[in-house]
Amino acid sequence: FDIVALIVAAGKGERAGGGLPKQYRPIGGKPMLAHAIQAFSRHPAIDRIQLVIGAGQEALCAEAMAASGAPPALFLPLVTGGATRRESVMRGLEAIGKARLVMIHDAARPFLPAVVIDRLVAALGGAEGAVPAIPVADTLARGGTELGEVVPRDGLVRVQTPQSFAFDTILAAHRAWPEELEATDDAQILRAAGHAVAIVAGDPALEKITFQEDVMTAEQRLGARMV
Ligand code: CTP
Ligand code: MG
Repeated sequence: FDIVALIVAAGKGERAGGGLPKQYRPIGGKPMLAHAIQAFSRHPAIDRIQLVIGAGQEALCAEAMAASGAPPALFLPLVTGGATRRESVMRGLEAIGKARLVMIHDAARPFLPAVVIDRLVAALGGAEGAVPAIPVADTLARGGTELGEVVPRDGLVRVQTPQSFAFDTILAAHRAWPEELEATDDAQILRAAGHAVAIVAGDPALEKITFQEDVMTAEQRLGARMV
């Protein structure tokens, strides 16, 4: 394949609470996961979609796939995720096996503007990896029970997904990453393998849905747009 989108949806969604893992909670009338699938499926650059899901969640996933409206032929066979996000990504990459580029995305970021995909594809001309990021606007400080020292926010960015990579390079970087080390994203893993990662403009809509109130805010936003 040329470009494969890899969506990780195997998390438990513990911080969002509720019975159903957040990626299957309804937003704007369809499961959260359906939104990211839809965005990729409507983008002409994306050839296939690899979903990584939790054990036993095949039926929930099938519902999301159907709700996305994406043609069934777009999907590679489902893969079961691991105990950590990194492990889930790794399993997805191994299952894809061969591609030119891969875009690794969180199911927990349902609002994915097509223009961000465009930027990520364009940026890979000159780099092995690219991430969308947005500048930090708030004051940053050490927290706890009492406000601590302010951390200068100059030059700091918030990194989002999707993150795009030359497929062979990110797969090799994942294989080289120490099993016991935590990683919150894949760009970090690419950098650790000695490769530069380009930054493209991110989008406020790409914010990750992490807590219960994020699910409600997302629902309200979609309700207002009547999507
Ligand atoms: N993810 C995954 N496999 C894991 C852990 C996370 O595929 N073992 C995915 C999640 O489904 C999500 C993305 O990685 O789409 C980002 O993770 P996060 O927002 O932390 O989701 P959860 O791990 O599900 O939530 P929590 O940490 O609150 O339990
Ligand atoms: Mg998590």
